[in-house]
Amino acid sequence: MSSLVVVGVQWGDEGKGKVVDLLAREADIIVRFQGGNNAGHTLVVGGKKTIVRLIPSGVLHAGKICVIGNGVVIDPQVLVEEIDTLQQQGCLSEASLLKISETAHLIMPYHKAIDLARERLRGEGRIGTTGRGIGPTYEDKMARVGIRIIDLLDEHVFREKLTHNLQEKNIYLGAILKEQALDYDQIFDGYCRLRDRLAPYVTNTSRYLHQEITRGRKVLFEGAQGTMLDVDHGTYPYVTSSNTIAGAVCAGVGIAPQQINGVIGISKAYTTRVGSGPFPTELLGPEGEKLRRDGGEFGTVTGRPRRCGWFDAVVARTAARLNGINSIALTKIDVLSGFPTLRVCTAYGYQGQHYDEVPASARILEQLTPIYEELPGWSERLTDLRSLDALPLTARRYVERIEQLVGVPVKMISVGAGREETILIRPSFF
Ligand code: GDP
Ligand code: IMO
Ligand code: MG
Repeated sequence: MSSLVVVGVQWGDEGKGKVVDLLAREADIIVRFQGGNNAGHTLVVGGKKTIVRLIPSGVLHAGKICVIGNGVVIDPQVLVEEIDTLQQQGCLSEASLLKISETAHLIMPYHKAIDLARERLRGEGRIGTTGRGIGPTYEDKMARVGIRIIDLLDEHVFREKLTHNLQEKNIYLGAILKEQALDYDQIFDGYCRLRDRLAPYVTNTSRYLHQEITRGRKVLFEGAQGTMLDVDHGTYPYVTSSNTIAGAVCAGVGIAPQQINGVIGISKAYTTRVGSGPFPTELLGPEGEKLRRDGGEFGTVTGRPRRCGWFDAVVARTAARLNGINSIALTKIDVLSGFPTLRVCTAYGYQGQHYDEVPASARILEQLTPIYEELPGWSERLTDLRSLDALPLTARRYVERIEQLVGVPVKMISVGAGREETILIRPSFF
């Protein structure tokens, strides 16, 4: 296989960064296709932690090409800071190692201001966004008033679009959201400085990827967020504003469906969610607290405590179908050590009805009853184990049961945050 998609199965933070960093050893090119710096992907190599927001998680490997596709929304300030930090660590030593799509949309200061103000006004009903301006940027893209990287490169076009947009946004910010107006010159000057930093990386990434895939180069497409945050297929309206499923790769980078050969779903061995919205297997008592503590479940981007709960096979099964997942990488199984009994949700019940997939109605999702199966736990520490045989029998049974319930084989088990803290059941993924 020469091109693989990696997607999150749950509500994000499944460990995509760790898995993509590991798989990137075998790949030539690593590509982000949606989302923005609402993503925070953690890589731990030799005990050192790196968090990437916009740059693909293959960046720590020397000589690999990182691509930011057209489906990504880019905050140029964040991207420049990320490039600087990575370059200080010796990464991205040449401009040719990073390619940014000329048609990706820019997150503007008014997008962030709108995102934050709307959340504040929503109060208890807030979505719990990351406040990075993601939703308002995708709104403008669809409304055909977005500003793209290519517009930024042409000062005349940028000036015109910014003038028009800022007039409208300042009226909206002031009259509806009760916010201060933003200053044109400050935005214009700041973005022109950032343009000069980003210009060397900007190119037609769709055409580039087509050429490289045709040449047989190995490409890894790195999803952000997770399937349950997909704007169409997730727990709407408590979702992000992009399509997060594997099918979004084609539009998000501009390649054809035939150019994708496989899909790996990343799933935690339990479930977490950050932000508001339904979460059927959430644990509000001491068990949830234990998962949060042992799993270090605090948001990579915002530092918010993540909500924690049991593994939900209904979510994973729905994600397997939506993405066409061929294999699962099961992460953070080490965190489950010390529970005498584990529970796995096999289906949902609601008013006498049985659901084996996630229902679309947010109201039903909030009111349904998860149907659980109990499995024996284990007390051993798993982080130093490197083979399936070395796992306690109960942990192996747990993994097997997940495979049965989801209908997809588990081909990688992650037992710690470090790159090497992994049990590879399938030696190669390409
Ligand atoms: P992503 O957004 O999907 O890339 O995930 P995040 O990086 O936001 O969150 C995953 C967190 O779990 C990070 O702190 C990782 O370092 C950590 N992590 C990943 N895999 C494992 C694992 O198998 N065990 C443990 N204990 N931590 C892990
Ligand atoms: P990674 O790639 C977890 C959540 C937010 C909020 C909702 C909408 O690290 O897995 P947004 O700012 O996108 O408009 O927020 O989506 N969210 C994430 N949750 N991991 C992420 O990314 C997320 N990106 C967005 O918490 O509930
Ligand atoms: Mg994350």
